[in-house]
Amino acid sequence: MKTMALSPDQIRQAFPLFQQESPPIYFDTAATAQIPQTVMDAMRSFDAEYKANVHRGVHAMTEKATQCYEESRAGVQTFLNAKHVDEIIFTKNTTEAINLVAQSWGKTNLKKGDIIALSIMEHHSNIVPWQQLASESGVSIKWFEDDTELDEVLNKGNVKLVAITGESNVLGMCPDIDAITAKAHSAGALILVDAAQLAVHHRIDVTKTDCDFLAFSGHKLYGPTGIGVLYGKRDLLKSMPPYMGGGMMISSVTTEGFTPADAPAKFEAGTPPIAEAIGLHAALDWLTQYDWKDIEAHEAALITKALKALDKIKGVTLLPTPHSPRPAPSQSGCFSFTIEDLHPHDVTDILGQRGIALRAGHHCTQPLHNKLGIPASIRFSVGIYNTEKEIDTFAKELEEVTSFLR
Ligand code: ALA
Repeated sequence: MKTMALSPDQIRQAFPLFQQESPPIYFDTAATAQIPQTVMDAMRSFDAEYKANVHRGVHAMTEKATQCYEESRAGVQTFLNAKHVDEIIFTKNTTEAINLVAQSWGKTNLKKGDIIALSIMEHHSNIVPWQQLASESGVSIKWFEDDTELDEVLNKGNVKLVAITGESNVLGMCPDIDAITAKAHSAGALILVDAAQLAVHHRIDVTKTDCDFLAFSGHKLYGPTGIGVLYGKRDLLKSMPPYMGGGMMISSVTTEGFTPADAPAKFEAGTPPIAEAIGLHAALDWLTQYDWKDIEAHEAALITKALKALDKIKGVTLLPTPHSPRPAPSQSGCFSFTIEDLHPHDVTDILGQRGIALRAGHHCTQPLHNKLGIPASIRFSVGIYNTEKEIDTFAKELEEVTSFLR
């Protein structure tokens, strides 16, 4: 498909937020991305012109809503290069997608003595669902920090699942998911990829990677909140019981019981987030107008420039980034740091007062922060709409803020 040249100035014109007289400088895309007008228009069009429920009734509006909802699913299939459209389940977000796998696949396939391997970088959404499962089923969790430790865990046997981020939401580090998938499979384990950050910054190809499950959220991908995706291999989804019960997830119900529908309906109980699925589709269409190589080059240039700016600030420690298989910089999309004697919240609070948004805290990765021996860090993250000029302003303001706080 022919793609558009990537011009950050032109891109910004697509975003109402950046059309304000004094737009904020937004370096918090890892938490949630801004939304282009085209996404808002697609959602508004559903609400204003054909709001109807999906897969229910036969009137013209429900037919149109159903068609658009299912086209969104097909759009996600193309985005991920999944083999089958019924491998795409709409959820509320990445968190719900991972909980679905834990409660459905995990509860029916794992037993006492089985192991789930987790990287220390994981977001709480890829930790707590497994801890909940472990406390109910006797499954144990083994942590790994790098490839060597993963090998050690896998060699001990009994690992049934490796659950790992495709891109750390703190370090910006991208593990080699293709290689880890191959390792997991040869040890007889499945792999689940938390692609909440990865999906925003790099092309995903689930067929090439051969991962078993993958999850991402719409709101980080220039789409709306309230919509996420679970990709699962067809045979796995077929063997899994429903996660929630209700309308649409059944093929029949009697007073004695129910027979579940096939996937994806089996996992989409109740009225789904229709406007949000349509918005996600618009976001994917918008983003994929651009070439991934151009997106990666633009964001890598931003990260490199921001890292250089940090060099000039006294007492900055960058959170260490283990080897990443991608070209330099080894951070992608974001990096995090601390500044000696300064509290991360004080720094981001004052930057915020100056119109620059960064996140401070543990970023929902307490095990990683505990490992590093720090309670919190400052995270700088970029999106496709950020510019080098904004980084110049950030660098100047950060220098002033640190002198002021000292
Ligand atoms: N997971 C999001 C973040 O890292 C909320 O900020």
